[in-house]
Amino acid sequence: MTETIRRLVLLGGDGIGPEVIAETRRVIDWFARHRGLAVAVSEAPFGLEAWRRHGKILPEATMAEIMAADAVLFGARGGPGYEAIPPAEVKAGSLLRLRRTLDVFANFRPLFAIPALFGASSLKDRVLEGVDLVIVRELTGGIYFGEPRGIERLPDGTRVGVNTHRYTSAEIRRVAGAAFDLARRRRRRVCSVDKSNVMEAGALWREEVTALHREAFSEVELSHMLADNCAMQLVRAPGQFDVILTDNLFGDLLSDCGAMIMGSLGMLPSASLGAADAAGRRRALYEPVHGSAPDIAGQGIANPLGAILSFAMALRLTFERPAEAKLLEDAVAAALASGVRTADIMEAGARRVTTAEMGSAVLASLSRLLT
Ligand code: NAI
Ligand code: MG
Repeated sequence: MTETIRRLVLLGGDGIGPEVIAETRRVIDWFARHRGLAVAVSEAPFGLEAWRRHGKILPEATMAEIMAADAVLFGARGGPGYEAIPPAEVKAGSLLRLRRTLDVFANFRPLFAIPALFGASSLKDRVLEGVDLVIVRELTGGIYFGEPRGIERLPDGTRVGVNTHRYTSAEIRRVAGAAFDLARRRRRRVCSVDKSNVMEAGALWREEVTALHREAFSEVELSHMLADNCAMQLVRAPGQFDVILTDNLFGDLLSDCGAMIMGSLGMLPSASLGAADAAGRRRALYEPVHGSAPDIAGQGIANPLGAILSFAMALRLTFERPAEAKLLEDAVAAALASGVRTADIMEAGARRVTTAEMGSAVLASLSRLLT
């Protein structure tokens, strides 16, 4: 079988984004050199640097590269500097807009406990033991996008801020389908999370998920949980979950809460996928869950593992190289087991390393695992 060349676009973005993507690039190049990965990799400007150099946060040339690519690997966007840019331009170049344009509605956020990092977590070892779950977050609907929205002046001179939480049955069903499909390949359990007790959109969410389950996924076990309880259960007993299905807002909150399963926000990878086309291909945006971390940007101390593990997801989900994805995940675990730690996961007795040194440690583990 001959492999056609696939295309991957790297967007460093802002803050620590370019720092973590640079280390991921070294890992990608390693797979090209040592594992025959046939992927054409390019880098494109997006964010403050793009604004300074091209007068656009998301230049048209970057957008064209994104639309022509099989996958996008993105660092982070945001931070100080945007307040000086016209609001309309900030909105046009926002990450929300990019996700919406790509229509990557299903956001997968795996949370798996890494034994070497138990000490970095605020949770007890016995709570972390064996935890392996995925949050499937709806990414292109709900309150972050709903209209009407805005800040308005009321007749009495005070102001009101308005956002709309809105989900159609089609939006609910397509992301629920993605979660059930994933569960079929895992431990076959989906917990759907909503606030159906107080929100109509939540009541519809529960009805549609239940109906789709009955129609097409009855071999998967479905349960429901209210979102506030889920936040508590995620830190009380995360081992109870296999796949958590939830909306855009709750998924945002719950996945940051779940970050302590992995010891640091800097460890979390994610993949956002669109619908499959006739050839079975899906638009894909891979990114670490963390933001641009302005408090540590430019210091070379950010943890690149969330970005590197996001590339492992790309190997599995876009490039169809599950063995290489596993190899990379094993290499990350081995690097951590060797005792190197970036500042965010540092603990007594470990060796503190920079972003680049962590990248080197992963490359060394890859070479070691290969021989
Ligand atoms: P953040 O994720 O950037 O940082 C939260 C805390 O975690 C900070 O103390 C930071 O130093 C630390 N942290 C995050 N990633 C790390 C890493 N890889 N290694 C070590 N430490 C790490 O979230 P924050 O501070 O709320 O937002 C900062 C900016 O990032 C804002 O402008 C926000 O809008 C943007 N943001 C962008 C996201 C994206 O591009 N996907 C996601 C979240 C926030
Ligand atoms: Mg968030």
